[in-house]
Amino acid sequence: MKTVVVLVGSLASNSINLRLAKALQALADSRLKFDFLDLGTLPHYNDDLWAAPPAAVTDLKRRIEAAEGVLIVMPEHNRSFPAVLKNAIDWGSRPWGHNSWTGKPLAIAGASPGAIGTAAGQAHLRSLLPALGFVVMGQPEVYLHAQPGLIDEHGEIADDQTRGFLTGFVDRFVDWIETHGAPRPAESV
Ligand code: FNR
Repeated sequence: MKTVVVLVGSLASNSINLRLAKALQALADSRLKFDFLDLGTLPHYNDDLWAAPPAAVTDLKRRIEAAEGVLIVMPEHNRSFPAVLKNAIDWGSRPWGHNSWTGKPLAIAGASPGAIGTAAGQAHLRSLLPALGFVVMGQPEVYLHAQPGLIDEHGEIADDQTRGFLTGFVDRFVDWIETHGAPRPAESV
């Protein structure tokens, strides 16, 4: 089974995006193994720390490099993507010449109580991903307008139409990884 590292761009215990990630995990079932990265334990990016890298950083890079794909599930923060997500992306991309993201197939999903469902935040994120060497899945786009009760804390989806749509997203991501994914060493981009 292929492994994907999962970056949830919210540290909130009741995060709707964490619930969405769990729903996608359940839909991927026996096809993908989800390895949830803990973005909350990473220090703020600081070049000085490479002199003696914290365990959270070396662990992050090891798990990225072992994975065949990357899934980002994110809220929108002030029409952009969350700072915790940028911090993790920055750590994974360094030190220079050891970019752990290079060549990784990646998909994005996002949920918000707002009507635009993270579309603006995802557009911001998508603008930087090719420069980091990600192989970005363009379709389907998941901008979930998260009504109360849509997904519970176990990732159970209350609505058949949403379940069907998210199943299609997972199906495409499985194919995307099959086509583009292979573990590879970190390298410069
Ligand atoms: C938000 N929220 C938000 N929502 C949105 O649709 N567009 C936005 O630009 C913003 N901006 C924003 C900034 C900050 C700092 C916070 C904390 C929140 C609301 C956000 O979508 C809502 O809190 C979600 O529930 C966050 O997702 P999680 O944390 O529940 O996964």
